[in-house]
Amino acid sequence: MKPDSTVIKQRYDRLAPYFDGLEAVMEGLFFKSWRKQLWAKVDGRHILEVGAGTGKNFGYYPADARITAIDFSSKMLEQAMQKSKRKNIPVDLSLMDVQSLCYADNSFDTVIASFVFCSVPLPLKGLKELYRVCKPGGQVLLLEHVLSSNRVLAKAMNFINPAVVALVGANINRDTVKNVKGCPFESVRVDEHSSDIIKLIEARK
Ligand SMILES: C[S@@+](CC[C@H](N)C(=O)[O-])C[C@H]1O[C@@H](n2cnc3c(N)ncnc32)[C@H](O)[C@@H]1O
Repeated sequence: MKPDSTVIKQRYDRLAPYFDGLEAVMEGLFFKSWRKQLWAKVDGRHILEVGAGTGKNFGYYPADARITAIDFSSKMLEQAMQKSKRKNIPVDLSLMDVQSLCYADNSFDTVIASFVFCSVPLPLKGLKELYRVCKPGGQVLLLEHVLSSNRVLAKAMNFINPAVVALVGANINRDTVKNVKGCPFESVRVDEHSSDIIKLIEARK
């Protein structure tokens, strides 16, 4: 499928009211503990979360940090805004595309995302933006599902990928570790607790 931002946005706009409910089982069984591990790695005071969605990471935000969060789906962002009011989460939320961030170079101590680069239409362009807005010595932290290294499973994932994109806007066959390594980071590390399909990636600028 063509990497069309409008189509992907529409998918998430459509999913937004049901998103938390649809992911509830996976969230409880798996995602919750991954999120804890991801956010435990955050350092510095000024944090940017990209593709914040409905705000499922709000509960993991460090209390003493200043958090800015963006998403390009207005309906997902609407859910996040309601949640931030309901739960009294101090976060500065904006409608923005990660492929073209409006922040100055070297702005944030940590730039973070969970399950976002499966959907970003031009992932390398988005990752280069994360690199640009991250401070020198700062870090980019990503929790992403990727293509399996098992040949049979990878073949099946590649086969059903077009249907998954059409349905929910996410690709299940991205090589996000390779994409991160395609940016000029000082170091890129994949956490040893990562699984075959879920990767916790730490990139240092
Ligand atoms: C699978 S959801 C994950 C949401 C949230 N990070 C989480 O962990 O639940 C992917 C999110 O990334 C957002 N997204 C995808 N491409 C984007 C882009 N180019 N710019 C900003 N947000 C984007 C989507 O709108 C959606 O809210």
